[in-house]
Amino acid sequence: PEPSWAGPGEFHPFVASNYPEELAVAKLPPGFNWGMTSSAYQLEGAAKDEGRGPSIWDLLSHRNPNQVADNSTGDVLAQHYYLYKQDFQRLAKYGSPYYSTSISWPRIFPFGKGPINEAGIKHYDDVIAELVKHGIKPALSLFHWDTPLALFNEYGGWTNPKIVDDYLNYAKFVIARYDKHVPVWFTFNEPQYCNWQYSYYPAGILYPSYGIGPGINARFICGHYTLLAHAKLAKWYHNEFKGKGRISFKNSGNYYQPVTNSTGDLEAAKRATDFSIGWFGGPWTDGDYPQSLKDTLGEILPTLSKAEKALIKGSCDFYALDGYTAFYVSELPGGANACARNRSDPNYPECGSSSQVAPNGFSIGPAADAGASWLKSTPTGIRKFLSAITKEIFPAVKDIVVSEFGFAEPFESEYASVPDAIWDLRRTDYIQGFLDNILLAITEDHVNVTGAYIWSIMDNFEWGSGIKTRFGMQYVSYDTLTRTPKASWFQARNWFKRHGGEF
Ligand code: NOJ
Repeated sequence: PEPSWAGPGEFHPFVASNYPEELAVAKLPPGFNWGMTSSAYQLEGAAKDEGRGPSIWDLLSHRNPNQVADNSTGDVLAQHYYLYKQDFQRLAKYGSPYYSTSISWPRIFPFGKGPINEAGIKHYDDVIAELVKHGIKPALSLFHWDTPLALFNEYGGWTNPKIVDDYLNYAKFVIARYDKHVPVWFTFNEPQYCNWQYSYYPAGILYPSYGIGPGINARFICGHYTLLAHAKLAKWYHNEFKGKGRISFKNSGNYYQPVTNSTGDLEAAKRATDFSIGWFGGPWTDGDYPQSLKDTLGEILPTLSKAEKALIKGSCDFYALDGYTAFYVSELPGGANACARNRSDPNYPECGSSSQVAPNGFSIGPAADAGASWLKSTPTGIRKFLSAITKEIFPAVKDIVVSEFGFAEPFESEYASVPDAIWDLRRTDYIQGFLDNILLAITEDHVNVTGAYIWSIMDNFEWGSGIKTRFGMQYVSYDTLTRTPKASWFQARNWFKRHGGEF
């Protein structure tokens, strides 16, 4: 039989008949962080303006047709770079206490290092001053995948340890300048995707001289240097700004539910989790990569020295989870060996994680995913996941923030009119289900969830899927640049009002 998700939050309309009584009265803990999200490259536009240098994403989006599904680029977009004042006015009226976004490294250091771009700094000075003026607290990511192209061209970006010092130079500059106003810092957004560039290059063609093929090797090497860069920055931050704010990286991860209780399926789900959140979460909670990664990847996985382990362990002040969905997992014939056998196959560079068919002894069916299958949203997955993280996967975690969750309605970009586009009932349902289940994790399962941020403040550039995949709580017309709140925008606010959220 098809496995099914039970419990509140599944496919219910705005307030379902099975709306649990405990939810009607449940309140968020005081000081709960909530707000909207975005990132620099996905929303700013103005890519060539005011001295910004190119990033790898400018290259990817311009390189040739079809690297981005709809051939869109980040060049213009919603023009948030110029319209941030009106965007923050609307946000201030909305009343969310936090706003999570990123700073663009190539706006501040157009070449990744060396000369500073004064116009870029001035811009972020103004952006932050404007947020502060409205009483909105910034949660700032220092890196959301926009590696300065110059560093990629010079030494291969995140494949090279040289980038650690260049990143530290940039990141320390930003923290020192804005620390007063920023209570939450993210060193990296979803570090597993920092080397996006490699997913677009055919094996060995562009950068054979680095001795690192694209795909599997590059992925784990890049991950290694992001971890080290994170840990060094966090140590510096903790020394210099003790007690002033909190720092973490954002973990991308989804709940993996074994299809049956068979040993094979349980182990497969465990491996899937290791390859997803264990890769980065293991080092900072336990001081090392999970054993299953070492066993499966062998020499492909870099080794952490004793000093590096000590540096990384405990380097995050909380666990930041970007968790959008959940997957069923079942064992594949060959079990764990299926991965070892396939690990040199460039078609399976991830050896697991969230690809649809993964070679490391498990297959995963989406419980919710981009496009049409988002329809099967499984908000109950987040509740199970929050419990599992704190109670089983990483008992060292004492504090979790859901740093992103959100929904792209299938076919939204094809809606014929603005009224159709803002009638986003499936997103509305997803958001309500997620928030309900986050709240139940707090009140019923006693998980210390201290925040939740919704992706995204408005429609933006969804990386390889382009602008036609719309994650926004506000609809953006790319003809008129008008922003129109969707139904979900109002419903989320009502939800926070109802449950004692801070305004
Ligand atoms: C996670 C990423 O941080 C963000 O950039 C992306 O747009 C959303 N998820 C949606 O896929």
